[in-house]
Amino acid sequence: IIAGCELIELPVRGDERGSLVPMEARREVPFAIERVYTVFGTDQGVRRGFHAHRELQQFALSVAGGCTMVLDDGERRQKIRLDRPNVGLTIPPMVWHEMEDFTPDCVLLVLADAPYAEADYIRGYDDFLALVGAGR
Ligand code: TYD
Repeated sequence: IIAGCELIELPVRGDERGSLVPMEARREVPFAIERVYTVFGTDQGVRRGFHAHRELQQFALSVAGGCTMVLDDGERRQKIRLDRPNVGLTIPPMVWHEMEDFTPDCVLLVLADAPYAEADYIRGYDDFLALVGAGR
């Protein structure tokens, strides 16, 4: 797995009524949560993301359905299927990521450690490679 990315299995609190998965800052989620967003209603064949963040840390999981996260550190590419409501992926700063192969019912939940800031985005892959010093 790409350095700094981690698959975290969250404990499921279940009983005869069903299941519940708690996500607490600095407990199951390894940072202080400042922002939450969802991605859903993604049309078949759509790919999104295509950026890295300078400082932002995120934690993503599919609460319904599934999608594939493509991770890239400038040296290696890796695909991780997110299709379990209790397994999240941490995405550290300076990891290029893309999302693809969404199921129609996919609801991706993303927790982030900072408010939305366009200045934190690296949206050009060549800019990303230059910043991580790929191929040194
Ligand atoms: P975008 O970053 O393009 O999504 P993705 O990387 O998943 O393809 O975001 C889509 C739109 O939503 C864009 O206009 C910015 C806006 N947005 C916010 O306002 N707040 C947020 O927290 C995020 C993630 C996006």
